[in-house]
Amino acid sequence: MCGIVGYIGKRNAVDVMLQGLSKLEYRGYDSSGIAIVAGGDVLVNKAEGKLVNLQNKIDGMGLESRIGIGHTRWATHGRPSDYNAHPHTSQNGKFAVVHNGIVENYLRLKETYLADEVFTSETDTEVVAHLLEKFYNGSFEETVIKVLDVLEGAYALVMICADEPDKIIACRKDSPMVLGVGDGESFIASDVPALLAYTRECMYIEQGELCVLTQDGITIKNHNLEVIEKEVHTIEWDAEAAEKDGYEHFMLKEIFEQPTVFKKTIAGRIHNNQVQFDFDLSEAQVNSWNKIYIVACGTAYHAGLVGKTIIEKLARIPVEVEIASEFRYREPMMDEHTLVIVISQSGETADTVAALREARNNGCKVLAITNVVGSAIARESDYVVYIWAGPEISVASTKAYTTMLIAEYLLGVYLAQQKGMDNAELRADILNSLQALPEVAEKMLSEEYLARIQSAADSYKDANDIFFIGRGLDWAIALEGSLKLKEISYIHAEAYAAGELKHGTLALVTDETPVIAICVQESTYDKIASNIKEVKAREANVLAIINDGDEETHKFVDETIAIPRIHNFVAPVLAVIPLQLISYYTAKVRGCEIDQPRNLAKSVTVE
Ligand code: AGP
Repeated sequence: MCGIVGYIGKRNAVDVMLQGLSKLEYRGYDSSGIAIVAGGDVLVNKAEGKLVNLQNKIDGMGLESRIGIGHTRWATHGRPSDYNAHPHTSQNGKFAVVHNGIVENYLRLKETYLADEVFTSETDTEVVAHLLEKFYNGSFEETVIKVLDVLEGAYALVMICADEPDKIIACRKDSPMVLGVGDGESFIASDVPALLAYTRECMYIEQGELCVLTQDGITIKNHNLEVIEKEVHTIEWDAEAAEKDGYEHFMLKEIFEQPTVFKKTIAGRIHNNQVQFDFDLSEAQVNSWNKIYIVACGTAYHAGLVGKTIIEKLARIPVEVEIASEFRYREPMMDEHTLVIVISQSGETADTVAALREARNNGCKVLAITNVVGSAIARESDYVVYIWAGPEISVASTKAYTTMLIAEYLLGVYLAQQKGMDNAELRADILNSLQALPEVAEKMLSEEYLARIQSAADSYKDANDIFFIGRGLDWAIALEGSLKLKEISYIHAEAYAAGELKHGTLALVTDETPVIAICVQESTYDKIASNIKEVKAREANVLAIINDGDEETHKFVDETIAIPRIHNFVAPVLAVIPLQLISYYTAKVRGCEIDQPRNLAKSVTVE
């Protein structure tokens, strides 16, 4: 949600900001803007729409400065427009602010402190700029502290002041921000890809800390403006990992990266049929948990649904899977005997972070499955299993989903092994299959395979509704397939546990509702076969995702796409790949904005 970049140093800040913002457009893309200090004044330029509109607008203006802050927006308060775009300025124009998050008490702050002032936007953020002017006492740092004292809500704020043009001040509460350490220059951004072209040395900011960026370095201070020492981390990702690398879209690139990242998720974690993580859980600790909650949003939630089956089958601990935005509002029953597993690619999804905190406040241990090192979720959890998927830029999650599944298989095996469960053979089979996955997935993604999927997708071009059906683990995959299709192709899709269809939804099935049936799980094959016949009887066109070598299904469906045979329990990792590709090619043939679908953003840092 919203991308922020700030720069101070020897380069032209305008170039650094535009470059950085282009790497953060996945966070929001309804408008963008930059502010610099030039000739003693703050100069602001903004444009509605994608970043390219801002680039075109300022092209040829010759803007130059050593200091600047920039923003790409995902609207919360106020519709996307030039005037609601950030940066926002104070009434006297001396302060400029970019913000990611929501100032919850902004209306009250307006009434209390700014009743006579004229606002030029509908945003909550503009209040912060006005308060800076109102509270200014000649010290930018002290003034920021005073403003923070009255703000409620979530924020990553980055601010400049025309009267103190040698510094940028930033702070955060519940919204992410990372600092980049350079030689004679300092950077700040919402996410690492914006920094990679300039530095790999970074620092993470904790809640409530104040960062003062100057050309000579970065100073972190506490609320009393006392200096705090910070560790500098080296980012392992290289800049290329966040580029399209010849693919037309990030989504396609990320689908194709799956075989490679599968290896990374597994690497170093399997030894002699045993799973090892960076933490150790004793038998007593694992046995102390009589319940597990998996809490997540969107695609990560769908990964959690697979995780439930994995953990219950392998470790025999009951698991409940919860949507993070619902979890804490229903007073879930949890205590020190409950393990809470939070799953999040970004590690910063506001609802998931809130669920994590709720769990900890109730005395639970929290285990995170996440992609982003140093993210709020990674930092605040007791144990972390990284999925090592590398940067995922496309809003539609693909490689993060499949690597979340792999992490869950590893975790399921680990919990069973630490508990001393009597299923060593099954665990060994699963670990062997996980190790085979990269090669199998690589072979699967052949030109011929893609062509088949593309032709299936072509037939969905004009569909209004598509049903995904499956049973057991195949149903969990169906849910993910349907979300992917909705998200990027804008075709309404629904996923159903196929046995449920006849309890109502079957009424919607006609010859105009294509059905995609996942028929991979052998234990429920006969059941899904009957359910397919039910929709065929209503003249639906059915595409079935089957196991290689399945000679039956083609007899009663219109089309099949096979996945390579692998241990059936691990098959969801492969079964979702054709669904990702169907969504991709359907969105493409419909001319949709694949990497940046309308109304969405990659990281959802507001509740
Ligand atoms: C998936 O394609 C989504 N765009 C979305 O559902 C996403 O999975 C969700 O917002 C959770 O994000 P997280 O994994 O970063 O927490």
